[in-house]
Amino acid sequence: MSNNIESTLHETRKFAPPAEFTSLAHISSEEQYQQMWNRAKDDPAGFWGDLAKEHLHWFKPFDQAMVGTMPNTKWFVGGETNACYNCVDKHLSTWRKNKAAIIWEGEPGDTRVLTYQDLHREVCKFANVLIQLGVKTGDRVTLYMPMIPELTIAMLACARIGATHSIIFGGFSADAVADRNNDAQAKVVVTADGGWRRGKEVVLKKAVDASLAKSPSVQKVVVVRRTGGEVQMTPDRDYWWHELMDGASADCDAVPVDSEHPLFILYTSGSTGKPKGVLHTTAGYNLGTMMTTKWVFDLKDEDTYWCTADIGWITGHSYICYGPLANGASVVMFEGAPNWPDNGRFWEIIEKYKVSIFYTAPTAIRAFIKWGDEWPNKYDLSSLRLLGSVGEPINPEAWMWYHKVIGAERCPIVDTWWQTETGAIMISPLPGITSTKPGSCTRPLPGVVTEIVNEKGEPVPANNGGLLVIKQSWPSMLRTLYGDHKRYEEVYFGKLPGLYFAGDGARKDEDGFYWVMGRIDDVLNVSGHRLSTMEVESALVSHPLVAEAAVVGFPHDIKGEGICCFVIPKGEIPADEAKKELIAHVRKQIGALATPDQIRFTPALPKTRSGKIMRRLLRDIAAGRESAGDTSTLEDFSILAKLRDDEE
Ligand code: WTA
Repeated sequence: MSNNIESTLHETRKFAPPAEFTSLAHISSEEQYQQMWNRAKDDPAGFWGDLAKEHLHWFKPFDQAMVGTMPNTKWFVGGETNACYNCVDKHLSTWRKNKAAIIWEGEPGDTRVLTYQDLHREVCKFANVLIQLGVKTGDRVTLYMPMIPELTIAMLACARIGATHSIIFGGFSADAVADRNNDAQAKVVVTADGGWRRGKEVVLKKAVDASLAKSPSVQKVVVVRRTGGEVQMTPDRDYWWHELMDGASADCDAVPVDSEHPLFILYTSGSTGKPKGVLHTTAGYNLGTMMTTKWVFDLKDEDTYWCTADIGWITGHSYICYGPLANGASVVMFEGAPNWPDNGRFWEIIEKYKVSIFYTAPTAIRAFIKWGDEWPNKYDLSSLRLLGSVGEPINPEAWMWYHKVIGAERCPIVDTWWQTETGAIMISPLPGITSTKPGSCTRPLPGVVTEIVNEKGEPVPANNGGLLVIKQSWPSMLRTLYGDHKRYEEVYFGKLPGLYFAGDGARKDEDGFYWVMGRIDDVLNVSGHRLSTMEVESALVSHPLVAEAAVVGFPHDIKGEGICCFVIPKGEIPADEAKKELIAHVRKQIGALATPDQIRFTPALPKTRSGKIMRRLLRDIAAGRESAGDTSTLEDFSILAKLRDDEE
């Protein structure tokens, strides 16, 4: 397969960090990086053990920093800590107690600021609310909420009492919520009436109500009043957040938990239809996100830091909540969309709060480019000193625009490669020392040992495409897939024994810089969100009209990848209205984020003789590389497929 991974990108521009940035950076010389990287490679336990002792609070010190090898490594064994304590309580004995922890802005323009002390009080109260509702250490709590401070408060409250949170992005449907509740056997759901998105209410409580009919493990629901929209409260099951908080005590000790205690589950798409419950544990994740925030974003106490992700994704978990708060940062949090009330909203926020570190996604950058330079040019962006990118490969054109128009050619760009599974950033420039090349995520961070290998697990020569693997355990790696350890071992370690295989194709250039080319499996990357083609296919075939479906991605200007569905109907090719119905059906099954861009009815799908759908061919058609009228030519593909088959 690696023979098929061809790299066509040849980018030679290089951008050195400004000398002034280097002189003040946490990692400020190549020697320092080399020394850290080599130590971490040769002695991972010593390297991470020292950092853990220095940066985390230990109720009980650990006996051994690292035990075992991948896939079953344990970190900081025997130790007891608490992620909420490390993110909040730790700062209360310092001058940071009255520093802004969360600077929040709602889409309608309402604002709230919580200092570390405020955050501590709210978290303690909500932790008591959870206890009162019967949540115990080890129980699972689903959070299905808009981007409001209560979400961060609820996460930290779970961590405080050792409950495991499972956050479900607000764009998922009731059915998706039910599946995840069931898989995690969640006891409590925390939600809101709704949230604001482009001036409209995204209704959440109603979806929770529908999901609970199918997820009986849930006993209690807490509802934040956000929009004031109409909700139905079921007695003895549903409670208003503000009413419970009113009577709650602000006194709640953080529960010391084992280093390997489950901190959260986050469901993500794999190459099968069933979402994977990626499980992260306490100490390793806490440390990994903390150190990478400091190194990659060069975070200082003076910074105003803004990551535009939704907390429903790993980027929000790691770089809105756990990483920056553990460092005592001031974190901007925004509820809404970048184009509401107009296309200048993000730049207005940067100007208003004097944001200095800005972390966003290529899909957003491509939209900004389309909307025009006049929007950022209207605002004063001179507070910015560092820019970040995450979620998909950033095309050099978007990188250059980001560099020039947003960064004024002054701000280093950190293109950060990582995954839900890695917990923290793995490959990224270090802004004080790395000369960046547009489109490359550059080099692995200290403690991250990566390689590009072929199908046999052998390293390939420079500039050859191959599979991106991680060779050595790291503290913030996932520990298992919830309830299915066998699948964990198979998915990530089954292909190349002893190596963590990320699912991405990449190459390493002559300078050792990594260029990620994208997924090699059936996982789509739509606006930086992972979706499996199989999930969309199973949603489609669950509709009475559909006999069979094949889903592929195609290049999309803004989203990176769009969703194209080839559908064999049961019976005659239906009228165009049926397309709308199928699109609505997929949205209902999975959520708005999985909305198909194209539905193409076809009487047949191109298949090999063994019955495998020829996805490569479908991808060509979807991308318009092979001319195909909507349905007629598709009929010929069975013949085409047969011809190809005969050639083999
Ligand atoms: C892709 C998001 C290229 C990649 C943090 C990975 C990237 C998947 C980059 C994980 C990047 C993420 N350059 N590709 N800087 N960042 N990816 O789990 O395909 O939502 O495997 O985590 O996004 O997506 P996930």
